[in-house]
Amino acid sequence: MNLKSLQTDDQGRLRHFLCISGLTRQLLTEILDTAESFAGVTEQSIKKVPLLRGKTIANLFFEASTRTRTTFELAAKRLSADVLNIDVGTSSAVKGETLLDTLRNLEAMHVDMFVIRHADSGAAHFIASNVAPHISIINAGDGRHSHPTQALLDVFTIRRVKGDDFGRLRVAIVGDIQHSRVARSQIHALNLLNTGEVRIVAPKTLIPSHAETLGAHVYHDLRTGIKDADVIIMLRLQRERMQGALLPSEHEYFELFGLTEEKLVHASPDVTVMHPGPINRGIEMDSEVADGPRSVILEQVTHGIAVRMAVMSMAMHHREEGAE
Ligand code: NCD
Repeated sequence: MNLKSLQTDDQGRLRHFLCISGLTRQLLTEILDTAESFAGVTEQSIKKVPLLRGKTIANLFFEASTRTRTTFELAAKRLSADVLNIDVGTSSAVKGETLLDTLRNLEAMHVDMFVIRHADSGAAHFIASNVAPHISIINAGDGRHSHPTQALLDVFTIRRVKGDDFGRLRVAIVGDIQHSRVARSQIHALNLLNTGEVRIVAPKTLIPSHAETLGAHVYHDLRTGIKDADVIIMLRLQRERMQGALLPSEHEYFELFGLTEEKLVHASPDVTVMHPGPINRGIEMDSEVADGPRSVILEQVTHGIAVRMAVMSMAMHHREEGAE
């Protein structure tokens, strides 16, 4: 399957939003610029624009999520769309209905866009290649594969704090890279924006064997890995995805890879600290760092709304223009 043609049309415009790797730098930048214009909307007292009035968006979350689902819902509402939250845990999926049957039923209700989170890698691509042509699919995280809107809100946050010259930035992604769809999407997005240096920092058991081919330098020592870093992105230990004993103990992990004020002195003096959430305080990072002046963790959450508004409106508008 040609993923690129599935995600964009002949003119390179967004049809579905499935992963970062199928995007051009131009399209990525266009999404970030559109998100910038929406960031103003989310700060106003009247937070709505009528761009998706009359459209119906269904949130289909087959995996637990709070931040991502809620910000997708807020984004859709701020674009004036009608939103359906389908709690898959209590839906027909538990009665044995197949994914495609669930989709066909939602199609029959004239839903225009599905936002999908699923535990299987490739689920969003599978659905995008099976839905009716007028429907857009937005990937809200598939297995270990990709979480493209999270990567977008992360680079959006970096751009807001550090400016748009990514070429001068050293970015270190620290933690459970092995199980992280977020890390994969972030590495693609950072490389697409020509980031000066992308590093991944983790114990050997939490780095995939083909790590170097991801386009990042690998470090197994935190102090060296974050040395002179301008941005540090901490990732959660994804215990629910681990099989067997990949870690000695959480205490030892924190000693070696947990971010503390004391370890932060190795980074650039104006380093920015990020985390996609949810944070395990005292495991990946100290509360002092998470709540400290260098942390932009809550700004990331806020930016998630503007970035998701941008992706949804761009994918939906493509349909509108195509119909004319
Ligand atoms: C991430 C996810 O679900 O992949 N969280 C998120 O979307 N905010 C990362 C994680 O669960 O650790």
